[in-house]
Amino acid sequence: MSRVICISDDALAIACGADRVAEAFAEAAPDAEIRRVSSWGMHWLEPLVEVDGIGFGPVTTDDVAAILDGSSEKRIGKVTEHPWIARQQRLTFARAGQTRPLDLGDYEDTGGWAGLKRARDMTPQAVLDEVKASGLRGRGGAGFPAGIKWQTVADAASTRKYIVCNADEGDSGTFADRMLMEGDPYCLIEGMAIAGHAVGAMQGYIYLRSEYPHAMAKLNAAIEASAHIVAPFQLEVRMGAGAYVCGEETSLLNSLEGKRGEVRAKPPLPAIEGLFGKPTVVNNVLTLAAIPWIMAHGGAAYADYGMGRSRGTMPIQIAGNVKHGGLYETAFGVTLGELVSDIGGGTDSGGTLRAVQVGGPLGAYFPPTLFDTPFDYESFAAKDGLIGHGGVVVFDDSVDMWAQARFAMEFCAHESCGKCTPCRIGSVRGMETLDRMRGGGRAGSDSVEALPQIRNTSGGVREASAELELITDLCDLMQSGSLCALGGFTPYPVMSAIRHFPEDFGIAEAAE
Ligand SMILES: Cc1cc2nc3c(=O)[nH]c(=O)nc-3n(C[C@H](O)[C@H](O)[C@H](O)COP(=O)(O)O)c2cc1C
Ligand code: SF4
Repeated sequence: MSRVICISDDALAIACGADRVAEAFAEAAPDAEIRRVSSWGMHWLEPLVEVDGIGFGPVTTDDVAAILDGSSEKRIGKVTEHPWIARQQRLTFARAGQTRPLDLGDYEDTGGWAGLKRARDMTPQAVLDEVKASGLRGRGGAGFPAGIKWQTVADAASTRKYIVCNADEGDSGTFADRMLMEGDPYCLIEGMAIAGHAVGAMQGYIYLRSEYPHAMAKLNAAIEASAHIVAPFQLEVRMGAGAYVCGEETSLLNSLEGKRGEVRAKPPLPAIEGLFGKPTVVNNVLTLAAIPWIMAHGGAAYADYGMGRSRGTMPIQIAGNVKHGGLYETAFGVTLGELVSDIGGGTDSGGTLRAVQVGGPLGAYFPPTLFDTPFDYESFAAKDGLIGHGGVVVFDDSVDMWAQARFAMEFCAHESCGKCTPCRIGSVRGMETLDRMRGGGRAGSDSVEALPQIRNTSGGVREASAELELITDLCDLMQSGSLCALGGFTPYPVMSAIRHFPEDFGIAEAAE
């Protein structure tokens, strides 16, 4: 029997040279079967190559001969037994690394379409009850219960309804949506078709981040190949134009309608008046991709995982200055410390771990003293943070937390849709205030700005405590007065940076 050599065709693996490695294997082992599969999510080992189930990584074209003759030092053993994989609880990413993304046979052989078949044998209300029983909450950031959203759309009286998949994935350090769409596109399609059956929608749209051309190609091919299976449900992909705010659901709907990506006031909720004014389910890729497993195994089986009100598993994305970055799916409840130190292996630079930002650019910074926080919605909220889309970005002790806080305000100013004043004007005033706070700088700084006092805009001198009061007040206003979470959550990274790392702001004590 000829050897089977598996190499990922995920965009990250390709960026690391997977295509060249695949060509080199095809040349060196013409009798072997080269399979382009999805990625296991162990990014530090990409391009990861499996020869008859035994893994090697990271592989370059120079490693090919040694791998084939059995002398390679890049051998990592059986991938399924690698501790990083073996410790995970993969439900949404159960196929990762093991199937060819567009192969319908691979999909069916690994349980594909079982959820859709079961759902179609059930009444729409029974499907809604199953999703509610699973406790699944939206994985896009807000954590709203999926079953309740679906019920609202199902109950809305309209002859036309839509399923919209939010695949804008703009959060820094996140890539799970991309990996799912590139690696297991039928899973998303199946989840959307089940949603369509449950709420009475025949048409779905996937609003895709413009920077994801590989996902676009995979989705289009998968939609065409599976059209006969999901019919009469129909699907189309729409490419976004690169604005972070277009990930906000109402802004996304405007963009889908061909309008400027500006946030809509709520109510009406999209579930009542969404796309083209019709009742619309807007869900994240991971929310919809969790549905086939739930429908195949039952809501109760999904709810068996997790803690508190955070049920099921979360595909956590570990990135930044970390030794072992990648996709780690596990039940809610793992602590932040386990994620970054134990699983992530600490900093890649070897420097001391100083801060972790969780939940994208609007997420709070956590210092090591908070590493015992369990990864679930409520525990993070209790520490003035959020888990958002599950992005975890690691920083070592070279990080300047003042610069991170300023970047948060700058990001908000840059990405603001401009509709409301606290966000549009507040973010600019926030940058100015932080610039003035820079006076103290970090301990040991010898810059001209490293003064014990700071200047206000009119050239006068103001104590750091006065600027601190001002930025605290401004953040309170942005949080309570912004129309959407872009302006409303920008205070999280800013105030957490000040609270936990006051020395970087030239102030002695943390803000309360
Ligand atoms: C500024 C901003 C950007 C957002 N970006 C995304 C995004 O890229 N993907 C996403 O699924 N949700 C994003 N959201 C959340 C959506 O508004 C919405 O809550 C989500 O799509 C609902 O799906 P879910 O319930 O499955 O999470 C964003 C929200 C805001 C305020
Ligand atoms: S908070 Fe910012 S992005 Fe959101 S509606 Fe207001 S101006 Fe637009």
